[in-house]
This record gives sequence, structure tokens and C-alpha cells, in this order.
Amino acid sequence: MKGLILSGGTGTRLRPLTFTSAKQLLPVANRPILCFAIDALRDVGIHDIGIVVGTTAPEVKNTLGDGSSFGIQVTYLHQSEPLGLAHAVSLARPFLGEEPFVMMLGDNVIHGGFQHAMKQFMQTRVDALVLTGPVDDPQHFGIVQLQGDRIVRLVEKPSRDLGNLALCGVYFFNPVIHAAIRAITPSPRGELEITDAVQWLVDHHFSVSHTVVTSWWKDTGRPNDLLEANRLLLEDLTPDIQGSIDHESVITGPIQVGSGTTIRKSTLRGPISIGHNVHIENAYIGPYTSIGDDVTIHGTDVEYSVILSGCIIDQAPRLDQCLLGRYVEIVRTTRNPRSVRMVLGDQSICEWS
Ligand code: TTP
Repeated sequence: MKGLILSGGTGTRLRPLTFTSAKQLLPVANRPILCFAIDALRDVGIHDIGIVVGTTAPEVKNTLGDGSSFGIQVTYLHQSEPLGLAHAVSLARPFLGEEPFVMMLGDNVIHGGFQHAMKQFMQTRVDALVLTGPVDDPQHFGIVQLQGDRIVRLVEKPSRDLGNLALCGVYFFNPVIHAAIRAITPSPRGELEITDAVQWLVDHHFSVSHTVVTSWWKDTGRPNDLLEANRLLLEDLTPDIQGSIDHESVITGPIQVGSGTTIRKSTLRGPISIGHNVHIENAYIGPYTSIGDDVTIHGTDVEYSVILSGCIIDQAPRLDQCLLGRYVEIVRTTRNPRSVRMVLGDQSICEWS
């Protein structure tokens, strides 16, 4: 069985980070989100994986290469424009051939993978099996409606109440899905929707079932979701200290500290993941924080945040729930008159209280 990971798209909801980076490569717990999709497929025994890529193809290729370092074999499939999830499947047709396959969204994290769903798909031999999970804000998700245990309706981002059982970004398909995709037309937002293709299967009496995820899952498409995925993954952190921590620092809870990193006169309360060559001094780093490589933090409190590589934070106000891209600088100066000087990219967000 083959796997298909969708790693194109535009990532508008994660701007400005996605102006310069593929959203699937943004790190959670200091690992690109896409790696969790690869782990999940490899863990169910799928090694032949097609990756749909768009404008960020060079960055994705640079990270995954031919897949051998991840124990998989990657075939890149180029999507000229993000014309929808079903469009991505249709362009992968030559790669997928006449076999069943698993499709996964490259920005979704399913905790613990989906062994149980794989088993169910192999045993029941249904035409489509989707993973589902309850959500608080169904208007942002693809939603399924059930009759008993049977899926009767699927709607992408519904504007009216259809319940709260969302699609979790993992779909098992028999090749009949290709006929369904050929039969549908673009939605009002101009995309070929995978929900419409699955609805076509339902309407034409193909067997479509679902299974509820057994643990948590996260679509990391929005900043708060990414911070929350980071928090949930850090809950499982295995402590590992390679850098140096001086005797004036106080550490509680699990932390990971990369090589070349120095921590001085600071308080750290895990779970925290810190990369390589980071310098932290006179700082407080609170739970659920991930800090990338080559970051400097002096005289600042940071909590529940994701800080990408190369940032400099010096005598800044307390940072909470922050998502900082690469090489961001937040630095207090002694300049007069006292003022806030900012150089922010398009669609940056800056809030203070
Ligand atoms: P989405 O998050 O639904 O779409 P998007 O990436 O365009 O983001 P936004 O809505 O913020 O602009 O996409 C889910 C996953 O599927 C994501 O990993 C990107 C990928 N994708 C494709 O590969 N091709 C596509 O045509 C689309 C729409 C998404």
C-alpha cells in the first residue's frame, strides 16, 4: 500500500511565517510538522510515499531528500496551483496506480498514529475509511454527519450546524476514489474538495466508514493550533541534556537541551525543548516552550511559545503564546525618547497589555 502526503497549499492562515516557509516545515517540539505524518505512515508499514508539493517544493525536498534518512522512499508530485485536496489526489494518480492508499494532510498531527484505522481498513475492505474526531469550532473543518455508524454527509467548513465530528486529515481509499474525483466539479471557493469526492461515493452506494481517533489530533493550520500541538507533543518529551547548565540555574520538569547550548543564571520549568547553540541568561523559560537552534535569550520571561532559529530576545517584556519566525529580534534599547520601534512583515501580529 502507498501513502500520499499533501504538502502544497498556500498556508494563508499562518502568515507571515508562510511567506518564507512551507507551513508543513514549521517546527513543533523542534521537529518539522511534516515529519509526524511520515512517522505515522512508516509506523503502519508504508514506505512508498508520494509527497504533493507546490511553490515550497525546494524547501520540502531539501528537508526530506529521497526519504532514506527517514526510512522511506519519496516521490515528489508537483501541483502547479493549490486547486484542492481532491485535485492533489488526481495529479497523484500515475503514482498511486490501481492500489488502495492512505492520504494524509501534511499539516496534521495524529498522536499515536493510526494503526487501529489501518487494521480496520484492511479487515473491512470498505471503499473509503476516514479518521474523525470531535471539535469545538466545526465551521473551520470538514464535518461528517452520521446515521448510526454510517456516514451520510460530508461538508467542508459548514456554515450551519451539522454536528461537531471533524475529518482529521487521514483518509484510506480504494482506487474508486479516482472515479469520484473525475465526477465532481470545483466548489464555490474554486477547489476540488475531497469531501465532495467522498460524498459522491456515499451517494453512489460505495461503502464509506469512519473511525474516531483514539488520542488527540491537531490541524496546525492556525497559530493557536500550532502552539497547542507544540504543547501536546512536549507532554511526551524525553529529557536529554547535552549542553551546559550552570549551578545558579534552577531546572524543574523535563527539558531537552541541544549540544553547544549554555544556560546561565536562569529558571527553566519543563516541558521545554531547546535546540543547539542556544544562549540563555538571566531568563525564565516556562512550560510548553520550544526554542530552535542559535537563539539568544537574555533577561526575559518566555512561556508557551515556539521560537524559531536565530532569534535574539534581550530584556524584552514577558513573552507568552508567541510564535516567532527565524531571526526575529525583540530587544530593549536605552534610546530616547522611549518608544517602540518595529519592523514587521505583512500580516504580523503584535499585541501587548
Ligand atoms: P489547507 O490547510 O486546507 O489549505 P492551505 O494549506 O492552502 O492553508 P490556508 O487555508 O491557511 O490557506 O490544506 C491542508 C493540507 O493540504 C496542507 O498540508 C496543504 C495541503 N494542500 C495541498 O497540498 N494542495 C492543495 O491544493 C490544498 C488546498 C492543500
